[in-house]
Amino acid sequence: MKLLVTAGPTREPIDPVRFISNRSSGKMGYAVAELARKRGHSVVLISGPVSIESPRGVKLIKVITAEEMFSAVKRNVNWCDALVMAAAVADWRPAKSSGKKIKKDQMPASLPLARNPDILMAVGPQKGKRIFVGFAAETGNLRAEALRKLRLKKLDMIVANDVGRPDAGFEVDTNRVAFYFAGGKHEQLPLMRKKQVAERIVKWLEKSNSFRR
Ligand code: PMT
Repeated sequence: MKLLVTAGPTREPIDPVRFISNRSSGKMGYAVAELARKRGHSVVLISGPVSIESPRGVKLIKVITAEEMFSAVKRNVNWCDALVMAAAVADWRPAKSSGKKIKKDQMPASLPLARNPDILMAVGPQKGKRIFVGFAAETGNLRAEALRKLRLKKLDMIVANDVGRPDAGFEVDTNRVAFYFAGGKHEQLPLMRKKQVAERIVKWLEKSNSFRR
């Protein structure tokens, strides 16, 4: 298969030294990319700023902002059989970013924000027979929110993770996830290493892809 995977956070600049971002380390997305490559698939990994090395044999495209991630996904999505959006894309960016460091006493008390594109929604028209997998990072109403996003973004599967728990979600090596499928089924997985979660995702993609041929 040809897999397009996104990972890590995006950074939305306030000025050359400050930004808005989130806690994503890239571990979950990199695990999917690495596992898929090991199982013989061609992988393009679009990554926000992280401090993990690129998995061997994977084509890495580095991006910083949500807009950059959006254009990289748009450019590569027609190539793939499956898109896995594990990245934690910042939904908002500062409406204006300064080219020079803003002096402490000139920093406004509040920052006007602008909405970033929703990448999964925006590439929906390019889906065709491709398999689209999203993640849902939630601290409450996990099932309802995951199902809402699955339908809204017209995904084939969403991986719901409860990021309020210390052993799941951002930064850690383990994750506790549930898979929700477009057909209505779901599967709750126990606490696992992110590499094992990645294996379950890739094996499901392989099975789904074989049915589409
Ligand atoms: O990187 P780690 O430290 O290993 O942490 C892993 C993780 C918690 C980041 C990962 O498992 C995860 O949950 N990623 C998705 C986080 C997220 O942004 O969830 P969301 O519920 O806000 O978004 C739902 C889906 O839409 C996601 O697939 C997301 O990539 C996508 N999205 C979100 C916003 C946006 N502007 N465009 C998008 O395409």
